[in-house]
Amino acid sequence: MSDTALRTESLTEHFGDVVARDHLDLEVAQGEVVGYLGPNGAGKTTTMRLLLGLGRPTASQRFLGQ
Ligand SMILES: Nc1ncnc2c1ncn2[C@@H]1O[C@H](COP(=O)(O)OP(=O)(O)O)[C@@H](O)[C@H]1O
Ligand SMILES: [Mg+2]
Repeated sequence: MSDTALRTESLTEHFGDVVARDHLDLEVAQGEVVGYLGPNGAGKTTTMRLLLGLGRPTASQRFLGQ
């Protein structure tokens, strides 16, 4: 059985012409602690909202974990 808690492939979110998050590949194992860092406007909050199911991504090859 896989111990993957969540995985994204090419997770992408656009707000009109703004690319809030561009082709994010992320895999986190169960129990793993991950820091997700970036400057203001990098797309951290957008990513977390998508992972929590608070919006649908504009595009994604694969999107597990919800
Ligand atoms: N609801 C929204 N409508 C339009 N643009 C948005 C919205 N939410 C975020 N953005 C834009 O998407 C980009 C990423 O924002 P955000 O995910 O809040 O970044 P961070 O949390 O890393 O600071 C920014 O350019 C921001 O202005
Ligand atoms: Mg933020």
